[in-house]
Amino acid sequence: MRKKITVVGSGNVGATVAHRLADKQLADVVLVDILEGVPQGKGLDLLEAGPIEGYDVRVKGTNDYADTANSDLVVMTAGFPRKPGMSRDDLLKANYDVVKGTIEKVARHSPECFIIVVTNPLDAMAQTAFKASGFSKNRVIGMAGVLDTARYRSFLAEALNVSVQNVQGFVLGGHGDTMVPVPRYTTVAGIPVTELLPKDKLDTIIKRTRNGGAEIVNYLKTGSAFYAPSAAVVEMIEAIFRDRKKILPCAAYLEGEYGINGLFVGVPAKLGARGIEQIVEIKLTAEEQAALKKSADAVKELTDIIGV
Ligand code: 2OP
Repeated sequence: MRKKITVVGSGNVGATVAHRLADKQLADVVLVDILEGVPQGKGLDLLEAGPIEGYDVRVKGTNDYADTANSDLVVMTAGFPRKPGMSRDDLLKANYDVVKGTIEKVARHSPECFIIVVTNPLDAMAQTAFKASGFSKNRVIGMAGVLDTARYRSFLAEALNVSVQNVQGFVLGGHGDTMVPVPRYTTVAGIPVTELLPKDKLDTIIKRTRNGGAEIVNYLKTGSAFYAPSAAVVEMIEAIFRDRKKILPCAAYLEGEYGINGLFVGVPAKLGARGIEQIVEIKLTAEEQAALKKSADAVKELTDIIGV
């Protein structure tokens, strides 16, 4: 039987996730939104692309959570978007209400599902979803590290004029201005990047990575990025559904790992059929550990405000 995925939110991120899922035939897709007509129209349009693209998956748009029942996985993209000049954290209270209310409904209709959270501020919203669902920590995952790392890898590949596939690395910490790209663990075809680029160039790339979301918002003016975010979500879903045991940077609920307790923060995590199957703990220098702590503290400030 085909898997079923619900995508909450039929905006650019949600609709592009649905599009990519259908193209890859990963699951039947339900696109749900409070907006009337938009999920139905986009869902039908995607269904009608099936005969041309050659996919058999069903895509349906709806306003009714009954249609989402028994989903294997739910992608939470709904929320207010970030406007120019607005930090991800400004979105906090407005999106807390959206995520809490939505995830309670999601959990009632799909008690066995995995949840991937995309709504910003990412780490605090993942924590909100975790608390609102009551699910075990392996089933609630925040998408951000894959996106932030993709930006980092793109900029490095561009600077070195090499394939993006040659560039491996990860970004730790919260999905915010304090995120922590780790050059010491970044390689290009196995060569440490620190051997290939001078520190000032690396620092510039790290700064641009931290600012990656805002850079797109400043161009688009009325919305935020969606091609790379949706690609990141789908890479995570593929890792889970195909039980790849793929190590990807994700926002995960930490209970002591990296010295962080009771908080969602971005770390390398192994994704497989059980969702987050392992948090991969790597050795950090005192400076890297301090940067990660600073980032976790920034997330904690937010979770304290909303009380999750
Ligand atoms: C991004 O990084 C807005 O968080 C979103 O593109």
